Amino acid sequence: MDNPYVCFDDMIAARRAEASRSILVQVQSETSLPDLYNYCCKFGNIKMLHYYSCGQNNFILIEFSETESVKAVLEFGTHLETEPVIPVRSPLLWFRTNKKKIKNLSRADNVISAGSIPYSSQNLQMPDNEELLRLLRDCETVSDQMMTLYLHSKLNDIGSRLRFLTARQIELMLCGVFPHIQAIPFGSSVNSYGKLGCDLDLSLLLDDITVNNNSRLVFQAKTRLNKRTSVQRQMEVVADLIQLLLPGCSHVRKILQARVPIVKFNQDLTFIECDLSTDNTAAIYMSELLYLLGYIDWRVRPLVFTVRWWAKEVMLTNSPHPGHWITNFSLTLLVIFFLQRENILPSLDFLMKTAGPEDDRVTEDGINCTFLRDLSKLPQPEQKNSKSLAELLLRFFEFYSTFDFATKAVSINLGTTINKPEPVAPMFIINPLERLLNVTKNMNFEETARLRIEAKNALSEFSVNAVHETFNDKKNWGLADLTRNQKKPPSEQYFSGLLKTPLKNGKRLVRVEELFNNTVENEVNGH
Ligand code: CTP
Ligand code: MG
Repeated sequence: MDNPYVCFDDMIAARRAEASRSILVQVQSETSLPDLYNYCCKFGNIKMLHYYSCGQNNFILIEFSETESVKAVLEFGTHLETEPVIPVRSPLLWFRTNKKKIKNLSRADNVISAGSIPYSSQNLQMPDNEELLRLLRDCETVSDQMMTLYLHSKLNDIGSRLRFLTARQIELMLCGVFPHIQAIPFGSSVNSYGKLGCDLDLSLLLDDITVNNNSRLVFQAKTRLNKRTSVQRQMEVVADLIQLLLPGCSHVRKILQARVPIVKFNQDLTFIECDLSTDNTAAIYMSELLYLLGYIDWRVRPLVFTVRWWAKEVMLTNSPHPGHWITNFSLTLLVIFFLQRENILPSLDFLMKTAGPEDDRVTEDGINCTFLRDLSKLPQPEQKNSKSLAELLLRFFEFYSTFDFATKAVSINLGTTINKPEPVAPMFIINPLERLLNVTKNMNFEETARLRIEAKNALSEFSVNAVHETFNDKKNWGLADLTRNQKKPPSEQYFSGLLKTPLKNGKRLVRVEELFNNTVENEVNGH
């Protein structure tokens, strides 16, 4: 069902190599495939063609067997004399029709039907809500529904390829000054919790300072300013280059005052929103940690996907802009912590203790990112938790509907709660790698309370019976129950509404302060 475990570094290296052998070509329609295939064969052996469309736009990603073939394509490629373009060469191209060749199409079509062209066609976007509900209705158990949701929403092969090709385009732009530069995807694009259409977080890793004591030829170089200022200046320049030079890149925004300065932009040819940062090595290791945890137990990812989906449905997330609400990353950490409490996942401290010298990693800023990477060396827990996905989901809602966010902080490192280091913070999730930071620093009291309230609501909607029974009566049931209240007003109004108005089924919600004092149930019968 899932791919076998490949260690994170190998997965990243394989995807980067794949991107370096690939080009993306915009075509008229899927029927251009044979023509394009025949045309590109002259540049080298083609491993695979991947077709996708978005609206009226059709694209074919071609993976060659050798990087040299991409070089040959770019060498032979052309600009249009008739258009005043900046003469940039990038692996993003379009295929012009050759009227003379159209006659040959039927012959080439035969080649395709004979199965001799390695070709796949995949979706870029999630199924729409109606389709998703239909899929959920057709399942036999809630656990099946969770698995179906996961399998239909997770980032697919073409999604990963396009993300790495988007990164490659930036590397190619900068490799003249930094020959070894790497643009490394991190976050949900690679941590195995990404869904179709997720954003692309990218970190530029500039070349390391080269120290070669045997060389007498020393690079002439500029003195670096203070590190933060220098990063901000570099990002500013990179943003301008992306805006001015890179085909497909638009809507470039610089957010340079943030703790981690970033440049946001859209890549309109791969349909990806990107957040670019520099030297964000700790975040890459964080992605590696999440990736690894996702492989320890098969239930981790379907549960994370379901919780993230539920949070969007009940509008705990669902805003494209950052704000006081919980993020997908924080939700993922809440699920991981819950699974640690269920004895399904180990604590990070345990992974650190079991690490070998080959796992030693410390970032330039001194952040210790050492943890066991070879899963075959992970000791199995003494007591095995064999709960189904549905039982875990129910337990998750139970766990967080009564969680004492007022005094406790979540520690993935220990796998237990600790007293909150900052009592004024409404929710505190210790950043597992940078332990002084709170991952949920952005959250306010209202959004923290809303998480608990919605978990409680989910618990009552999603009755214990639903977990054990199986349905197939073609009505919405199980997970689909959690979506019934989707048409709620936006978050702040919704929240103040919760304080005052009676809720359906004769239940009402009590005040948020009471929730925090943990003295009163948040739902009481409203007679
Ligand atoms: N990250 C972090 N600390 C934070 C926020 C983010 O270490 N306080 C890192 C995590 O590795 C996270 C990545 O930055 O996965 C990207 O953050 P973000 O895009 O917010 O989350 P994603 O996991 O990519 O989820 P989404 O699909 O919502 O983009
Ligand atoms: Mg992201």
